[in-house]
Amino acid sequence: MNEISKIAVGTIIPVLSLLVNLGCRKADYEGMALEITKEAKTNLVQKLTNAIAEGGTKNAIPFCKQNAMSFTSNLGSKKGVLLRRISDKPRNPMNFVSEEERKIFLEISENPTKEGEYPVKTVTTRDTVTVYVPIPTAGLCLQCHGEPNVDIKKETLEVLQKEYPDDQARGYRVGNLRGLFSVQFAR
Ligand code: HEC
Repeated sequence: MNEISKIAVGTIIPVLSLLVNLGCRKADYEGMALEITKEAKTNLVQKLTNAIAEGGTKNAIPFCKQNAMSFTSNLGSKKGVLLRRISDKPRNPMNFVSEEERKIFLEISENPTKEGEYPVKTVTTRDTVTVYVPIPTAGLCLQCHGEPNVDIKKETLEVLQKEYPDDQARGYRVGNLRGLFSVQFAR
């Protein structure tokens, strides 16, 4: 091979393979959703831990009421997606699953792996891709989402009653599926 054809081959092949790659690569919605929800979780847990450290569990409840939803939806807007936390037994009624989401919630909650991890599920329509990322219950969550009077102290229950008279988000144990992140991308 002479010098010129070597250069030609050396440039054309990488350029061609780049083009083929770009053309064929499907957007990795699940990967993007996992990154976004990881950031959301880390931030929410950090804010929650700080609020508890500053004012105790019962004072962290009004803090969550004021900040959790706006933080979540603002992070979504920043990332160009619709980001929500949903549950079949919500504390905030705005987080209640729709009929379709309820089916997805059930499917995810009924299919944990042997290690107790819940699967991620992606639903594609003509205009949207929605990735549902499980939010399991951890030990830290029980003081507000566990068994009343066992895990949740009386003083905390009183604040919950006042702030969320229709609260359903109690009685969870470590490992239970507490909710889902819904991450919706426009196609
Ligand atoms: C200090 C009490 C407190 C702790 C601890 C706590 N939460 Fe919550 N949680 C709340 C409150 C209050 C809301 C309602 C927030 C709102 O109004 O948007 C909530 C809402 C949620 C929601 C949205 C669905 C719903 O029920 O409205 C999820 C999901 C959730 N919590 C998961 C968790 C997980 C997982 C943990 C542990 C890592 C946890 N929470 C720990 C108080 C708490």
